[in-house]
Amino acid sequence: MRRKLAAGNWKMNGTKAALSELEALRDAHPDPAVDILICPPATLLSPAHSLVGNSPIAIGGQDCHAKTDGAHTGDISAPMLVDAGATAVILGHSERREDHDEESHDIRIKARTAQAAGLMTVICLGESLDQREAQDTLDIIGAQLSLSVPDSSTGLNLVVAYEPIWAIGTGLTPTPDQIGEVHDFIRSRLERRFGPGVGRSVRLLYGGSVKAANAEEIFAISNVDGALVGGASLTEAQFSPIIKALEAAV
Ligand code: PGA
Repeated sequence: MRRKLAAGNWKMNGTKAALSELEALRDAHPDPAVDILICPPATLLSPAHSLVGNSPIAIGGQDCHAKTDGAHTGDISAPMLVDAGATAVILGHSERREDHDEESHDIRIKARTAQAAGLMTVICLGESLDQREAQDTLDIIGAQLSLSVPDSSTGLNLVVAYEPIWAIGTGLTPTPDQIGEVHDFIRSRLERRFGPGVGRSVRLLYGGSVKAANAEEIFAISNVDGALVGGASLTEAQFSPIIKALEAAV
């Protein structure tokens, strides 16, 4: 049975003052029926980790370098994330693919390094609106999946997030049928590549304009094991109802 996962991606939002939201989230969910992961900016990882302490809330990074150390000014390595208290890292988010020209093969190398450091990798995939309109969605997702996910993946260290680029931060969401089609496709590809045991144990998240108002509908879709939430994860008031909707779907 896959344990559901509510993951929040704070992106480049939040200074120390934002930790009060994490504190409120921790206090609101002392014994959640789902996994909760918050990925704050790197500057907040250590204080966020101190704040969540032994609570069920996990802390993650938003990216890491492909190497474990060395002359890479401005970058952060997977062992550094672990040292700061992270147990997970988001990799291949479309904003990284776009802003930093990250390609799927770069993401695979980062993921291998991150998994070797003991991190759970949340690998993001998603098509652009042009690609969807050209009916290329499954081809794009299939290629991103096979190239971005390393062979070292297991049900414990891999989570795949399907995030259509056109749905991120736009208020637009795909229909349940569109989400279900992609999630079923990702599941079948993972089963084919890793075998049914591992393939069925990897959690698949949907991401892109998830909010309290659409969470219940999204969590009812088969092969949706949770969500990767951007904007609506920044406050306890917006994220808690999403967590509750996911708990109701367990
Ligand atoms: P959004 O972002 O929830 O603000 O659309 C999702 C994401 O980019 O992970």
